[in-house]
Amino acid sequence: MIGRIVAAVAGIGVAGGLGVLAYAWHPAIAPIAPPASTAFSTASVEHGRVLAAGGYCAECHTRRDGHEGAPLAGDYLMATPFGAIYSSNITPDPETGIGRWSQAAFVRAMRQGVSRDGSNLFPAFPFDHFTHMTDGDIADVYAFLMTRPPVHSVKRANTVPFPLNVRLLQGGWKLLFLHPGAYRPDPAHDAQWNRGAYLAEGLSHCGACHTPRNAMGAEKAGAAYDGAPVDNWIAPPLNGTNPTPAVWTEDEFFQYLRYGVAPLHGSAAGPMSPVIHGGLSELPESDVRAIAAYLASLDQATGRQGGDAARLAAAMRTSTRDLTGPQTDPDARLYAGACAACHANTGATPVPGRPELALNNALWLSEPTNLYQVVLRGINAGEGQAGIAMPSFYHALTDADLARLAAYLRRTRTTLPPWTDLERKAAAVRATLPAPPVAASH
Ligand code: HEC
Ligand code: HEC
Ligand code: HEC
Repeated sequence: MIGRIVAAVAGIGVAGGLGVLAYAWHPAIAPIAPPASTAFSTASVEHGRVLAAGGYCAECHTRRDGHEGAPLAGDYLMATPFGAIYSSNITPDPETGIGRWSQAAFVRAMRQGVSRDGSNLFPAFPFDHFTHMTDGDIADVYAFLMTRPPVHSVKRANTVPFPLNVRLLQGGWKLLFLHPGAYRPDPAHDAQWNRGAYLAEGLSHCGACHTPRNAMGAEKAGAAYDGAPVDNWIAPPLNGTNPTPAVWTEDEFFQYLRYGVAPLHGSAAGPMSPVIHGGLSELPESDVRAIAAYLASLDQATGRQGGDAARLAAAMRTSTRDLTGPQTDPDARLYAGACAACHANTGATPVPGRPELALNNALWLSEPTNLYQVVLRGINAGEGQAGIAMPSFYHALTDADLARLAAYLRRTRTTLPPWTDLERKAAAVRATLPAPPVAASH
């Protein structure tokens, strides 16, 4: 099982004066008789299905630790630095789910992070993004959820300790960090850009993983898309600070977000895979294009493209380095034996299905985390490019081997300073992974 979405966000409550309490206290919204499924139009339910995929609701609302829970029945474990938070049952079960929630109660949860009974929800639920959805889209997600099969399921109790578990204190967090309200189109940009911004900032909450968080678990203002650690991976920067030599253009973004692989930059793995497969893949192509156009404007792709050809050519020249002639460098021999058969490229651009490591952010990020993740786990056929896989080296390579490979690749395929403490970091990533069956190793 691949790493699912575990944005480690508790959101620390901030106590304050009476003003905060006024902000924190909300009345319960009266329960309703569960609406009949005929109360919703087919078009609304279908649109809600697409939106629920694009917001990955099922990723976070389906239990996976221990046993597979029913879809959307909640009890998904989110390990935050402060303790475990379990997601809610959002099937229309009247006792344990949202069966007795009116649409108004649902809208309030999505816009303000408040449960039907009036209690504040933790921002592990990304309502700070969902708040930017339109009324119509929230209503369609409601229609979709209320027409699912009801599942009776009680979630486990959170282990976030006192006083952080006091839901009233979340009011202070919201006062500081929640900017409620539907996205307002920016007239300085065209409709496609605004559509992309609407989806990326709201429903598909890209910043929840790609923007670093402050000590209180909120996304840092002024550091949007600067890249951040998430679930023992690094979500790379998506703005002009993305370090790869080949600029992420609109088309590279589009290919990556649509098919899980960008011709120059490589594949989606780890927590990014479910964002694409079963997530964005359900959205119409024009929506994914819009997100790509929005990101290309954030990373100023057009302005940076000058010099790109030279950097690309330089990277491609390193691809076959040390692979011909006598190999005296033992690290080069390790690479040649373990990796080169599938990764060496001789042309001006990478062969499809043969990611070029010299262009891949696994080598260019500030830490070797993603490189280690990919090499230890491998990439299964459903994660990156559909139907192609990379084997796991969990059993074949020791932490010392991984450290040598990482140092060698960083030294020969990038122009950045060396990584440090490589063997210890390899052991740390390995310790987070279950050992795959021996037969699955290379
Ligand atoms: C990153 C994980 C994550 C994603 C994605 C996510 N949720 Fe949640 N959601 C949670 C968690 C965790 C809670 C429980 C928060 C708490 O207990 O304070 C929650 C709570 C809720 C609640 C409140 C239920 C209650 O009984 O109070 C609703 C409604 C909800 N989510 C709907 C959605 C919808 C709709 C989507 C998709 C558009 C979605 N969630 C996507 C993690 C997530
Ligand atoms: C659950 C966390 C999470 C969410 C949500 C998420 N990402 Fe990612 N993203 C990651 C991680 C982790 C990686 C690194 C994956 C890898 O190395 O294969 C990544 C990689 C990427 C990359 C490749 C960057 C590079 O330089 O290699 C792009 C582009 C990207 N994400 C775009 C997006 C967009 C657009 C969204 C919103 C639609 C999004 N991501 C939402 C975690 C996330
Ligand atoms: C049997 C062929 C094969 C071997 C051997 C192999 N790889 Fe891969 N590797 C792949 C394929 C195929 C992909 C793309 C997978 C996908 O898109 O699903 C990939 C992807 C990658 C990525 C990109 C991941 C991303 O998030 O973009 C990295 C980094 C990588 N491999 C490193 C290595 C290293 C280091 C070695 C040697 C220890 C190695 N590979 C050995 C086939 C291989």
